[in-house]
Amino acid sequence: MTTQPIAYPEDRDLIKFLFFSTFCLMVGTIHGVWQIQPPVREWLDSIGSPYGGPGHMIDPLAHAHMNLIGGVVTLCMAATYYMLPKITGVALWSRRLVFHTFWWTAIGLLGFYTTLMTFGVLEGNLLLAGDLEGMDEMHQLFKPVIATISTIMGVGFWVFFFNVFATIKKSYQKP
Ligand code: HEM
Repeated sequence: MTTQPIAYPEDRDLIKFLFFSTFCLMVGTIHGVWQIQPPVREWLDSIGSPYGGPGHMIDPLAHAHMNLIGGVVTLCMAATYYMLPKITGVALWSRRLVFHTFWWTAIGLLGFYTTLMTFGVLEGNLLLAGDLEGMDEMHQLFKPVIATISTIMGVGFWVFFFNVFATIKKSYQKP
């Protein structure tokens, strides 16, 4: 069996974006099917989903971001990094920033999802146990954790913007 030479070997670092996007859509859709099962739905409704409280963290926040950022946005990032050099005729400003775009976004998204799911369950159980003080204490712990992990995820987006912007700027400066 003859294998075709890889047309754009420099783009192999985009494979991880494609795998991560597919993986997140799997997790996001399993989450979607899970949260609609009657006993789970009843539990989520009893802790405030989708309107507020701990339930809101699980549905829709964790579900929406796993599918939208993990599934869709990372695919858009890979497609942009693949198409831009071919459209502009210049190489990406930095392949190192491709690496940073992926890992800050991926680690941020997995941390964001895990934080929302963990605190959603913990605070939800405290709510159902009638321990409102305990739930509030837990939520005070949630705030710095979600703020930190959201910033990590945000860095991935901002590095992506800078690398795309610098590449387009470079393409307009080329002789
Ligand atoms: C660093 C990136 C991001 C962070 C930290 C973030 C954070 C949040 C937070 C805290 C909320 C909840 C607001 C509330 O309390 O209701 C929210 C809602 C939402 N976000 Fe994001 N977000 C980010 C990026 C995105 C992106 C890129 C998309 C879409 C592609 C998105 C889609 C949504 C949607 C659809 C909702 C509303 C969910 C609902 O209540 O129905 N987010 N986001």
